[in-house]
Amino acid sequence: MKHIAKLMGSVALVAASTLTAQADEFRLGLITPPPHIWTKAAGAFGDELTEKSGGAHSVSVFPSRQLGNEAEMLQQLQTGALDMAFMTVAEVSNRYVDLGAFYAPYLADDIAHAGRILRSDKATSMLEPLPAEVGVVGVGYGMAGLRQIVSRGDISSAEDLAGLKLRITPFTPILDFYNAIGAAPTPMPLPSVYDALANGQVDAIDMDAELIWVLKYYDHADTIVQSDHMMFPMVGLVSAKVWAGLSEEDRAMIGELMAKHVDSTIDSYVEKEAGWLAQIEGTGKTYTKVDATFFGGAIDEWNAIWSEKAPSLDGLRAVAAETK
Ligand code: BEZ
Repeated sequence: MKHIAKLMGSVALVAASTLTAQADEFRLGLITPPPHIWTKAAGAFGDELTEKSGGAHSVSVFPSRQLGNEAEMLQQLQTGALDMAFMTVAEVSNRYVDLGAFYAPYLADDIAHAGRILRSDKATSMLEPLPAEVGVVGVGYGMAGLRQIVSRGDISSAEDLAGLKLRITPFTPILDFYNAIGAAPTPMPLPSVYDALANGQVDAIDMDAELIWVLKYYDHADTIVQSDHMMFPMVGLVSAKVWAGLSEEDRAMIGELMAKHVDSTIDSYVEKEAGWLAQIEGTGKTYTKVDATFFGGAIDEWNAIWSEKAPSLDGLRAVAAETK
């Protein structure tokens, strides 16, 4: 892959002085639980790497935040204490702000369009600075579903969100979005969300269809707003230090296989998202479909903030227009 070949040069420059011994058994961390699509893709990547390397390499997958939250795992990747991760682009955007461009509200018309944007050359090029900026190699993108809103009370307009304690994934673009709406965004990592909604610590959550359905986040909610307001990319990461210690052959094999398996998650969400949404709608909870107009001026406010912060935003919008 062109992207992996390019990375071989750039990472050698960043980490030439910190070569590590070649690992045979890699550790891969992620925050999603075992039944989640990302965790299954990580397992499939490990299996194929073992097979293709003739048993020379294997991958131990640590799901459900066993190695720490994403911020902690990113630090471990930087020091080389962790070899690999499948991570939300949200977390990486906390360190490399340009990636915040992916969260432009309604950048993607639907889940398949989100997949086409993530598979573009422009999106791939946005990973190139990661070794120098963050100390990780981004081999390629995956994703989760588009974002929806699940609430304990009735929501019939964006005004109903005003002042609500609304759980968000801890990253700035989504914080800016809900601040613009007038909600009280409450950053909270994934594993704490079910209990927080169940016990009323939060009034509402920002979430995707898979988790709303599979982890039953609708259980303690009255209203599901299918807003599809943002995409939610994931990235396959290798520690730049670990990468620098690999042979060229291993980098090519690991990079290509990891890119293939993170990319496979895009197909899974494109195939399954409509089914999850239909099942959520079938629960009998109040289910409302809304579009960008629901959020009024909040989207313009977000665009004004992020057109300053994320140089890639215009380029991604051009890709979005070309790939409609
Ligand atoms: C979340 O924070 O909502 C999330 C994290 C990882 C995968 C999917 C959703």
